[in-house]
Amino acid sequence: MKLPLEPFRIKMVEPLKIISREEREALIKTAGYNVFKIPAEKVFIDLLTDSGTSAMSDAQWAGLMQGDESYAGCRNYYNLQETVEEITGYPYVLPTHQGRAAENILFSTLLDKNSVVPSNIHFDTTRANIEYLGATALDCVVDEGLDAEIEHPFKGNMDPLKLKAAISTYGTERIPLVCLTITNNSGGGQPVSMDNIREIKEICHTHSIPFFLDAARFAENAYFIKLRNEKYKDISVPQLVREMFSYADGCWVSAKKDAMVNIGGFIALQDKMLFEKLQNLLILREGFPTYGGLAGRDLQVMAIGLKEVLNEDYLAYRLEQVAFLGNLLLEAGIPIVKPVGGHAVYINAKKFCSHLPQSQFPAQALTVALYLEAGIRAVEIGSLMFAYRDNGSGKWHYPELELVRLAIPRRVYTASHLKYVADAIITLYQNRNQLKGLKLVNDPPFLRHFTAVLEKLD
Ligand code: F0G
Repeated sequence: MKLPLEPFRIKMVEPLKIISREEREALIKTAGYNVFKIPAEKVFIDLLTDSGTSAMSDAQWAGLMQGDESYAGCRNYYNLQETVEEITGYPYVLPTHQGRAAENILFSTLLDKNSVVPSNIHFDTTRANIEYLGATALDCVVDEGLDAEIEHPFKGNMDPLKLKAAISTYGTERIPLVCLTITNNSGGGQPVSMDNIREIKEICHTHSIPFFLDAARFAENAYFIKLRNEKYKDISVPQLVREMFSYADGCWVSAKKDAMVNIGGFIALQDKMLFEKLQNLLILREGFPTYGGLAGRDLQVMAIGLKEVLNEDYLAYRLEQVAFLGNLLLEAGIPIVKPVGGHAVYINAKKFCSHLPQSQFPAQALTVALYLEAGIRAVEIGSLMFAYRDNGSGKWHYPELELVRLAIPRRVYTASHLKYVADAIITLYQNRNQLKGLKLVNDPPFLRHFTAVLEKLD
């Protein structure tokens, strides 16, 4: 199997330690079978998220020292603004401390409780920010994107017919914006094709609906387009990125992913009027528009990371690294979402734990088992994250996809680490019938998975 070849060498290391199984058992019980509540030092390989967990480059560390910590007009803001404009073509840039703050500011300004926001699949914080305002988050991904088994090059695409149906059902006045998540995180990190971005733009344009990209993993999406669409194979990544953004009116970005920083985000826009409108809320919630909840040094490393991620040797390695773990699992017959996504491998827990109904949170049960088995922390993207109870009947609705996400931090783990992860999952798969389900003991009103408490079922 092809080993991912790192286009960097290691200059600084952080020790890792694996604690005993007994200690892990005690910890997970105290944590209410919720891996978010386990101290990171008690985790051996942390695949909870690829967000804010990247290793910065030497250039970024050097950039930290160039922070201009002036309250207003720091030079790092202008560096960031120029970089974002060069990459996206959008001149108006508002920094935020992370992606969800950008969502909050944008949605609080554009939505009311009757609003409906179509996306391919909303990420959890995006959905929660919309629902918190009483509005509706509508997923319109292509049917292939809801089937873990089907091989399709662009399973993150939005179904244009579903979008058109939403427009005719709700009317344009109730749809303040349409967005596309690139890559589609909650649907397996699957890319959206250039043709789909263009087609969704055309529909939005016809109906005068603003169109946004939730672009946390924009570079990975662009590289997938290059690899999977013959038409684009000779086009450079910066050109592909520029074309993707050219179809939208604006974007919000969690810079904790592809921009390879530990904290940061931004909104970027074509429209000066909207920029001015958003500034007011930004000042109230985040800070003055030239720092937006970040230090000058954070803005500087973000600007550097945004350029670094466009390097094609890096992107080739990045996608190969994720595919390496995916292929080790596929070879062992383990059901994962196919094809392998850009930032993570997603195990299909419905199939892995076919003896457990969704009411027993199979993906969470597998996540817990993986921590117990090998000190590996993954994250559930399934019933614990997305199931909801009908207000009237009290009946539970379960999501189509029941996944365990193994998110790979950027430039952090080696192929040996990933082999260790694959071996642990293979061992669990061989003993999968012994996995026990879980039940909810405490059910927070939104973003339940972060704080929920569960118990083991016998
Ligand atoms: N949009 C997408 C597509 C995301 O994946 C995330 C975060 C956000 C928005 C929110 O950004 O975390 O900076 O506030 N995803 C992380 C994850 C948390 O683990 O996938 P944030």
